[in-house]
Amino acid sequence: MATNQAVTSALQAVLPDMTAEEIANKVEAPKDTKMGDLAFPTFTLAKVLKKAPQQIAADLVEQIDQSGFEKVVATGPYINFFLDKQAMTQETLTAVLTAGDQYGKNNRGQGQNITLDMSSPNIAKPMSMGHLRSTVIGNALANLAEENGYQPVKINHLGDWGTQFGKLIYAYKTWGSEEEVKADPIATLLKYYVEFHDKAKEDPSLDDEGRAWFKKLEDGDPEAKRLWAWFREESLKEFTEIYDRLGIEFDSFNGEAFYNDKMDKVVEMLEEKNLLQESQGAQIVDLSPINENLTPAMIKRTDGATLYMTRDLAAAIYRKETYDFAKSLYVVGGEQREHFVQLKAVLTLLGLPWADDVEHISFGLITFNGKKMSTRKGDVVLLKDVLDDAHELALSQINEKNPDLANKDQVAEEVGAGAVVFHDLMNDRTNNFDFNLGEVVRFEGDTGPYVQYTNARAQSILRKAGVAVNEGQISLDDSQTWDIVTTLANFPATVVRAFDHREPSVIAKYALTLARSFNKYYANSKILAEDENLNGRLALVKAVSTTLTIALSILGVQAPKEM
Ligand code: ARG
Repeated sequence: MATNQAVTSALQAVLPDMTAEEIANKVEAPKDTKMGDLAFPTFTLAKVLKKAPQQIAADLVEQIDQSGFEKVVATGPYINFFLDKQAMTQETLTAVLTAGDQYGKNNRGQGQNITLDMSSPNIAKPMSMGHLRSTVIGNALANLAEENGYQPVKINHLGDWGTQFGKLIYAYKTWGSEEEVKADPIATLLKYYVEFHDKAKEDPSLDDEGRAWFKKLEDGDPEAKRLWAWFREESLKEFTEIYDRLGIEFDSFNGEAFYNDKMDKVVEMLEEKNLLQESQGAQIVDLSPINENLTPAMIKRTDGATLYMTRDLAAAIYRKETYDFAKSLYVVGGEQREHFVQLKAVLTLLGLPWADDVEHISFGLITFNGKKMSTRKGDVVLLKDVLDDAHELALSQINEKNPDLANKDQVAEEVGAGAVVFHDLMNDRTNNFDFNLGEVVRFEGDTGPYVQYTNARAQSILRKAGVAVNEGQISLDDSQTWDIVTTLANFPATVVRAFDHREPSVIAKYALTLARSFNKYYANSKILAEDENLNGRLALVKAVSTTLTIALSILGVQAPKEM
């Protein structure tokens, strides 16, 4: 059992030199529950207070306000807290039920903006599983920001500019067809791109043709721009289908191209600070003043073309000016780690005080049934196919368990997509992991559908009971429910921790823990028995369902009421 708010507050009142967080980190569960529900060790205070730990524990117990507890006792160097289970049960369940879908929210952010650079796939290519990770981690962090009182701004920094568009335009003009693109845009554009690379292997002059078309595009050639805009629009249509299925919306689709006219300013700023140097015809910023080991940041190429880095500098400055963010998060895979270290280093050298608020939220690689993906080779696992397969798997389990369910198809979609998203978020962000759909869509085990199923079970109990829950009068046999109540009480602190660590997996793991405790309780008790505790048990069921639903919604997963 983790830390309890009442214990932290009681300790803080008598230990004013420690922060609530410092105290909370020290509070532990005693190995033997006979010793109490929570314990606070005093060893580390001995040095500061110049007293023996035993004495400190005894003295503090004298001062602590014991009113919220069954008792508080000093046992050697520990202060042991025995919680008042009835009072805490009543307090917790009332808190959940009166807050409803607002339970767990706090206002630490006080409405300040947090920008999240997330998803950001590259136009004319299918969205990869890496982009899936960025999309769902970004979305969950945006939801967590909101739970913590911030205003999230979700930005899709589309990869819609770069030499590859020159190649694509050349390929399209030389052997492409409008009908073919219209019929299946991304697949066709990807095919042209792959063909271009195959042909360029035989005939390297193609690369020059590609570069020439990109130069035209950068110079504003109308035909090049028309094709570019068309490819972008068609790609966006396909991406939007995926975002819709995942229930994810963006506040901005300002991609790389958006910064075309905003990069001169960056170059000027760098010049003003004397940061630009020439190196073999290119313009670079030496980052060794920040860190010896950093490679210089490339600002302009030999041919004068600007770069990924220059666009990101322009974007960072634009975002500060437009949103005045408190934090600017970039949810991008670990392979771009150095890029973001460089980005931050340049902003620091520019003397921008908010450079410290820029954070790279890195994540691990995923493989799909053991397979890596490479767009160059056209060897890709399409996200759409993954979602379709997950849908089918979910549907077949629904057909087995609940064949008469109304709107099966919609529930199968919520369960299938939910399974994929949950599995992604349940793993620690920086871990690499493999995706095996058969495992992920199961209704048992550590899966999204397991949590959804638990919630649907809770909902079905409430339907069967058919009476409204009275939030004021809650009595329960706490020997069976204490575990659930303490987990529910920990939700607000969990929301804080998940956001502060930028770690949605904290919420996914929490949901699994709560679902497991609830299922254990369900298996061992007659919830609907007509006795004096019926209302208390129903209150508990409702509070569990409320909290599971919030946890799932933070992760971007639906909570169907029946499945
Ligand atoms: N389009 C890039 C890619 O697919 C990701 C962009 C990340 N965001 C950024 N501001 N650089 O690799």
